[in-house]
Amino acid sequence: MAEHGRQGAQAAPWWRGAVIYQVYPRSFADGDGDGTGDLAGVRERLPYLAELGVDALWFNPWYPSPMADGGYDVADYRGVAPEFGTLAGAEKLIADALELGIRTIVDIVPNHVSSEHPWFRAAIADPAAPERELFWFRPGRGEHGELPPNNWVSEFHGPAWTRSTDPDGTPGDWYLNLFDSRQPDLNWGHPRVREEHEDVLRFWFDRGASGVRIDSAALLEKDPALPDLDPDSPAPHPYVDRDGLHAVYRSWRTIADSYPDPRALIGEIWLPDTERFARYLRPDELHTAFNFDFLSCPWEPVRLRASIEGTLAAHAPVSAPATWVLANHDVTRTVTRYGRADTSFGFAAKARGVPTDPVLGMRRARAAALLTLALPGAVYVYQGEELGLPEVEDIPPAALQDPMALRSGGTSPGRDGCRVPLPWSGDAPPYGFSPARASAPPWLPQPADWADRTAAAQSGDPESMLSLYRAAIRLRRAESALGDGDDLTWLPGVPANVLAFGRGDRFACVVNLGGDSAELPAHRELLLSSGPLTVDGGLPSDTAAWLRL
Ligand code: GLC
Repeated sequence: MAEHGRQGAQAAPWWRGAVIYQVYPRSFADGDGDGTGDLAGVRERLPYLAELGVDALWFNPWYPSPMADGGYDVADYRGVAPEFGTLAGAEKLIADALELGIRTIVDIVPNHVSSEHPWFRAAIADPAAPERELFWFRPGRGEHGELPPNNWVSEFHGPAWTRSTDPDGTPGDWYLNLFDSRQPDLNWGHPRVREEHEDVLRFWFDRGASGVRIDSAALLEKDPALPDLDPDSPAPHPYVDRDGLHAVYRSWRTIADSYPDPRALIGEIWLPDTERFARYLRPDELHTAFNFDFLSCPWEPVRLRASIEGTLAAHAPVSAPATWVLANHDVTRTVTRYGRADTSFGFAAKARGVPTDPVLGMRRARAAALLTLALPGAVYVYQGEELGLPEVEDIPPAALQDPMALRSGGTSPGRDGCRVPLPWSGDAPPYGFSPARASAPPWLPQPADWADRTAAAQSGDPESMLSLYRAAIRLRRAESALGDGDDLTWLPGVPANVLAFGRGDRFACVVNLGGDSAELPAHRELLLSSGPLTVDGGLPSDTAAWLRL
């Protein structure tokens, strides 16, 4: 296996300050022309990613899957979906990326499997099968078992239970699915479930993966009594953030640390309580977790500053680095969100037809890029963020694929709008996403007006979002105070609607969230700004600047 790392043994571990680019394989680049992105497409575009300057790639699931939830319904954790390529192709991709200094993070989905996974097929085929115990099968309530065993609700609308059919065709027990009915939840109280996932971790670490992103990481353990959810009860939540989970992650940490170049564990943990959140980042548990507090935060100076301070304060006691995330494959694209009257993100608020000002959204997204890349810790960039792609809000209902939309009875647009295939070149769909003479159009339709958003169109334009990201990541790499470098210190004497902080005593980031232009603090040099300064050197509204002090 290729030797990991450009850093010496003394340097801080890579994951503490990395720029990690999220690849949604289905929508990144289509190498074989079937309209679906694939690993060959990613390999062809590795030079693009190297030029962008990212340290690592996080791939959304690439395993064999019926794609009921975009691959988060895994049928085989040790393979690659045929539409994405082969296992050998994945190994080659991991090795080729590493040659360019880019590490690979794979997505591990431990909370549930696909209903096509061999375990679940065995459990359904025979109610007496031992595999039944690997899931949560329970008789229904009501006279004929016609009601779900409890009141839990699926993250994708409707009850979190599905009634199974016995082999003789009669209605049988119900099984738990916190997401789609084709994603049955695993029973983490069962030793076989634990052993299987530890083996899967080793499988991908042995193939050169530098880390794993752990899907739904706070949901694995369930109260075996499966009580009704009572929001007013002081008892621990029956399936969110249960104390027993920490033992699971401590055991995973031992595996990660057993490699000569230790592998990183990254949790998808949405918890409002930052102290509970930080418990997962204790030195013998996960390395980092996504910062959903920051992702959900509105574009408001007081709230942003509170989120930044709260994040740093929560991470400090456990010595874990913070992460900064503006977007991912589940949430509204940044440019669209920041152009709305309500700039926060929440799933409940996902709606169609919310007015947005794309010019304002783009200004803010550019400023937010410089803000996040200047904060202490690691940064995630979701594919297309570097192109300033907006949410696609007019996907025809018949083309929608996301179970969140399909199960909502038409009330939710779901998450397809941020998963539209990337535009690479040209002035009409498929914009170079698929090769010439492709056999099928992109799996989700691309907008007709993306000619100016393509990577090719933006590459030569110094004012483009792509150029801004490239310049910022290059500077961040060269500036040792950034990333996992020096502490953040707020600069005194700036107006309340300006965020201004130093990293060390030579670098400052200033973001103006007020309506009027703001005076920049004394500096030697303007390193980079998200937009032009005013004629007298002021920082305009919704603009950020990096300064050499
Ligand atoms: C995570 C993923 C999301 C998926 C869900 C169920 O939240 O990010 O895309 O639908 O888990 O696996």
